[in-house]
Amino acid sequence: MSTISLGGYQVDRLKSEAFCQPSIWIVATCLYDFGCLTEKQCWIMISGQILGVGEIRLGGIGMKSYKLRVVETAEYLKSHINKSPEIGILTGTGLGNSLGSIDIDISFNYKNIPNFPVSTVQAHLGKLLFGGLNGKPVIAMQGRFHLYEGYSPADVTFPIRIMQKLGVKILILTNAAGGLNPDFKVGDIMIIKDHINLTGSNPLIGPNEDIWGIRFPDMSKAYDEKLVLLAENTGAKAGIRMQKGVYAGLKGPSLETPAEVRFLKTIGAEAVGFSTVQEVISAVHGGMRVLCLSTITNINDPDKPAPATIEEIISVAEKAAPELETIINDVVGGIKARKGDNLL
Ligand code: HPA
Repeated sequence: MSTISLGGYQVDRLKSEAFCQPSIWIVATCLYDFGCLTEKQCWIMISGQILGVGEIRLGGIGMKSYKLRVVETAEYLKSHINKSPEIGILTGTGLGNSLGSIDIDISFNYKNIPNFPVSTVQAHLGKLLFGGLNGKPVIAMQGRFHLYEGYSPADVTFPIRIMQKLGVKILILTNAAGGLNPDFKVGDIMIIKDHINLTGSNPLIGPNEDIWGIRFPDMSKAYDEKLVLLAENTGAKAGIRMQKGVYAGLKGPSLETPAEVRFLKTIGAEAVGFSTVQEVISAVHGGMRVLCLSTITNINDPDKPAPATIEEIISVAEKAAPELETIINDVVGGIKARKGDNLL
């Protein structure tokens, strides 16, 4: 018996013939491509054909359909806030403290938010904040979800869909990354100008949610040029060492071998990490403008391989948090000032 992953669920592909009863056909053809028959059983239909019916295993984040969970969670959060956020901020490993300037109205532990995944890794604080930053209403996450934690692309991007539902138009992401460009130094902040998705996954696989975005979203300008410019100007003004480059997103969690580092450099990657690409794909699909800042926590040189430990990575990221805070604050201030520029 084989297992497939659909909409965040692990589902057994079993008994497909046995369950193709006319009654189920009728239900299935009238409804969605994937749904629950009972609390424990779901059906899967692709191109009008029932692919199978099987047991739901809770590798994902719940039993209800993904879309319903997004609506439910967004409604829950909406009932606790009085201003819709316009800007979303998502911080990566060791970077949660870069949100210190937010004037917090309300905060939630991830574990207390219905349907929300929880952070399972160090240096991800697991808090969702709502408040004001430089005069703009923001939603901010201290900690993200990764494929290497066992989360599906749907789980990893669940917060992005929540932000979309709450009205977020601009997404600012941060992460910790290994530097590949020989000009980079530990502690540099790299503005991502493009990415290479090497995770082997994509959050848009499966039936397209037309109300969220189009089937084949354009990725030729995934990282917004105006936001990149704002971040560059901020860095220059504040005297922060900034770089611009291409980020390669891997699944992890094992770090790169020297041969993999050589390969990544050959294909044009300038930094590497285990996050971000799924979130950016969902955000672009959802019509958001994206800015992403990587903290270069270590340098990967295939000719001089040196071990990178999570403790060192976290320590460098934590030291960079105040610089990121400066950039994020200034960019948000710049977005506000440049309203005529259609940034919002
Ligand atoms: N590789 C992958 N992810 C990372 C690295 C790295 O070298 N440094 C920080 N996050």
